Amino acid sequence: MKILLTGIDGYIGTVLGQELLKAGHDVVGLDTGFYSDPWLYDLPDFKKTQVLKKDIRKTTKEDLIGFDAVVHLAELCNDPLGQNDPEVTYQINHLGTKKLASLAKETGIKKFIYFSSCSVYGASDNIADEKSPTNPLTAYAKSKVLNELFLQDIADDNFSPIIFRNATVYGASPRLRFDLVVNNLAGLAFTTKEIKMDSDGTPWRPLVHVLDVCQAVLIALDTPRKKIHNQIINVGDTSSNYQIKDIAEIIKKTFPDCSVSLNKDSVDKRNYRVNFNKIRTVLPGFSCKYDVAKSAKELLDIFTKINLSFEDFQSRNFTRLKQIRFLRDTNQIDSKFFWR
Ligand SMILES: NC(=O)c1ccc[n+]([C@@H]2O[C@H](COP(=O)([O-])OP(=O)(O)OC[C@H]3O[C@@H](n4cnc5c(N)ncnc54)[C@H](O)[C@@H]3O)[C@@H](O)[C@H]2O)c1
Repeated sequence: MKILLTGIDGYIGTVLGQELLKAGHDVVGLDTGFYSDPWLYDLPDFKKTQVLKKDIRKTTKEDLIGFDAVVHLAELCNDPLGQNDPEVTYQINHLGTKKLASLAKETGIKKFIYFSSCSVYGASDNIADEKSPTNPLTAYAKSKVLNELFLQDIADDNFSPIIFRNATVYGASPRLRFDLVVNNLAGLAFTTKEIKMDSDGTPWRPLVHVLDVCQAVLIALDTPRKKIHNQIINVGDTSSNYQIKDIAEIIKKTFPDCSVSLNKDSVDKRNYRVNFNKIRTVLPGFSCKYDVAKSAKELLDIFTKINLSFEDFQSRNFTRLKQIRFLRDTNQIDSKFFWR
């Protein structure tokens, strides 16, 4: 299939682009390039693809002609980044996505895989499934909910949105993000040998490896449209709900001479668990191949090979909010995050 992959130069997109190519798809990327360089490490067999360097808010109908499917990742990507500028988050994440999806439908593209997030469930003591009410607590999560509603509204016989509510992603990518919990704790363990937690570590988080997310996309592209038309699907595995203190313990076991300390007086209220049974019924053959222990080894190998320094671990290159602030402070992007 010919696929337009937005956000191809991001953490997940860099890995997903390669997986799509390996599966025999024809891939064109679209990305504004906020975090394109540098890479944390090289991929020797990396295959380059055509990338339209463009903001999704400026997409035109011409950009979308000839594609069988859109896989849409390009948004501002997490809660802290969204809270930093809720209005721009709304403009990019909601209005930009709305425009892209409307043009995709007008152009006759039949499948539109959208990357939503389990953060739409917000904090809850219950285990959320796709039918649970949403409770978005941040500008980022609110935009995800608005987009889901919009996509479901424009779905019809000729346009099938498939909405992936991804768990928090972890695992290796050349454009690594250290602002994601597993990658962050692994980076801390390697560069400081100490995981000092701000909280008591009891909150639950659903997690999924980046390659398992790619697997879900590949299966969804191959699955007949009518089977997944307009479906919301949690992406992950029910056994991959972890307490933060357990993630820290797994990392401690993998990274030599690492210690863990908790702050028992501080309780983090962001606490939620998710049920991932549906994905196994609607995406034939899907099952997660990774867990945190396996990925901790993968990350340790990479950090050892490149001898990850504390400076790189802390640098703006691998923490999205720091990079966006840098681009703003140096006037490379304007107040609406368009390149100057
Ligand atoms: N990483 C996770 O844990 C996770 C979990 C759930 C959902 N998601 C979703 O998956 C998607 C990708 O996440 P990621 O971790 O790879 O994030 P990322 O920040 O690494 O990648 C996002 C990419 O989108 C591009 N982009 C941002 N705004 C753009 C715009 N206006 N126009 C064109 N390109 C733009 C960026 O340049 C970047 O390359 C996001 O939509 C995110 O919300 C991620």
